[in-house]
Amino acid sequence: MDELTPTTAFRIADLAARQDEAVRIAEKRAVDRQHARGKLTARERIGLLLDAGSFVELDQFARHRCAEFGMDANRPWGDGVVTGHGTVDGRQVCVFSQDFSVFGGSLGEASGEKVLKLMDLAMTIGCPVVGINDSGGARIQEGVVSLAYYAELGRRNSHASGVIPQISMIMGPCAGGAVYAPAITDFTVMVDSTSHMFVTGPDVVHAVTGERVTAQELGGAAVQSEIAGNAHHRAAGEEDAVEWVQTLLGYLPSNNLDAGPEYADDTSPVLTPADLELDQLVPDSPNQTYDMAELIVRLVDDGEFTEVHSAFAPNMICAFGRIQGRSVGIVANQPRHQAGVLDIDASEKAARFVRFCDAFGIPLLTLADVPGYLPGRDQERGGIIRRGAKLIYAYSEATVPKVTVVVRKAYGGGYAVMGSKHLGADVSMAWPTAEIAVMGAEGAVRVLYRRELAALAPEEQEATRRRLTEEYRKRHGGPYLAAERGYVDQVVTPSQTRLQVARALRTLRTKRQTLPSRKHGNIPL
Ligand code: HXC
Repeated sequence: MDELTPTTAFRIADLAARQDEAVRIAEKRAVDRQHARGKLTARERIGLLLDAGSFVELDQFARHRCAEFGMDANRPWGDGVVTGHGTVDGRQVCVFSQDFSVFGGSLGEASGEKVLKLMDLAMTIGCPVVGINDSGGARIQEGVVSLAYYAELGRRNSHASGVIPQISMIMGPCAGGAVYAPAITDFTVMVDSTSHMFVTGPDVVHAVTGERVTAQELGGAAVQSEIAGNAHHRAAGEEDAVEWVQTLLGYLPSNNLDAGPEYADDTSPVLTPADLELDQLVPDSPNQTYDMAELIVRLVDDGEFTEVHSAFAPNMICAFGRIQGRSVGIVANQPRHQAGVLDIDASEKAARFVRFCDAFGIPLLTLADVPGYLPGRDQERGGIIRRGAKLIYAYSEATVPKVTVVVRKAYGGGYAVMGSKHLGADVSMAWPTAEIAVMGAEGAVRVLYRRELAALAPEEQEATRRRLTEEYRKRHGGPYLAAERGYVDQVVTPSQTRLQVARALRTLRTKRQTLPSRKHGNIPL
């Protein structure tokens, strides 16, 4: 090949020098400021997330238009956000990473343009977007222009919802209206100690209400993951947060038209010792508890699953796993927490998860052991009717393959809501230990025989109550009334469950279902 002309050689060298300088200056400033705060830089975070050498940076030379806004004339390249694309485990993702060392990572016109352009790219090519948030929110100096970009971002997030997976990582502050972009995305991860999310910060809270509260108390990772439910995972550190996101991406398709990742099926086609252990999982007493996770590990490939929202509403498990190499969304009551009761938080948690899985073609496996909806004034006043209805709506609308296993209790509304045949389960199974009824035997006897029991001498009451309870349990308690009606397709032994669930999901691979044509439904929000 001919030698480069001097001009071309100079220009190539100049570009390389500029690129190096842009990164060097940004990293020098960021390293000093970020590491002192116990945080990684925007680029270090991208480096951790993506496959080595795969990152392609976009708009590296973007700068804010300082003259108009009277800002620092020493305009940093990049304008407070690093954007681009690369791969995670060989699969394409788009990523933006806010750089707190430049104007507090705040969003202005140039940085806003970069993020919107990236969102548009992700939608065009159909790949997930990971947004790494570490920002003071709308850039104060740029006024309404920065607000406009946040609103534009919210619109992009909304339009991308259900088309490409969107994941938010909160690695520092995320304040004011800026919280609503992550809130619209599908999954949010927060880092312990260094991240917080709130609509109004401690100073404003103090000015308005007089209350003194720290940023962590107001919106730290613990609060957001356990109480408010805005965070789906509370990471111990930034590396942990990144690993969780990488694992999560491994379960997700790139977009709503993609078939999703498929792994080799190494599962045993015959009963295994782990399968047989299931025959001993459920205790004889309906009031004795067990860990639903023990069932899940025996149903999924390699015993591996990843919970989302694990600290929020722990009475409901929402998790991704794989069955015969393909992703499945698992919705399961957790008897270890509040006996697996359905409450407002559990309903909303599961409803959003079901809708995510449905939007992205991920089959649903429901494992039911539910005593019903949680009674009480707090729940009623908190809107359990409106908010509990979301789960009915979500299951009813979901057209992905739906397989349900009733393990033990399926009482009352809990039976109907937890992926029942009536809400469209394609295959409904029950264990012989299932109790499908309007309510538990003790409760039913109390209601049905209150007068008769009250009329008995006190010493006879207990024995009679026990006899009636046993009779009720025999008559109504098992899965067979539901099986007679076809509400349960198969009564399976616990040890057969893995094989039967796998078979059902295989059978349903070709499922096609459409809903009535309409602009959109009106889910109770
Ligand atoms: C411009 C900002 C900024 C902002 C921080 N900085 N926030 N610059 N616009 N919104 C700058 C600071 O001036 C400072 O610059 C540097 O970032 C670091 O900030 P510090 O305050 O020193 O850091 P820290 O003590 O860690 O506090 C971080 C913070 C605080 C909690 C984020 O800076 C803060 O409260 N910022 C304002 C948050 C806010 O109210 N934003 C508007 C939200 S409303 P120097 O030059 O000194 O290093 C919103 C609307 C969205 O976002 C609309 C959606 C529809």
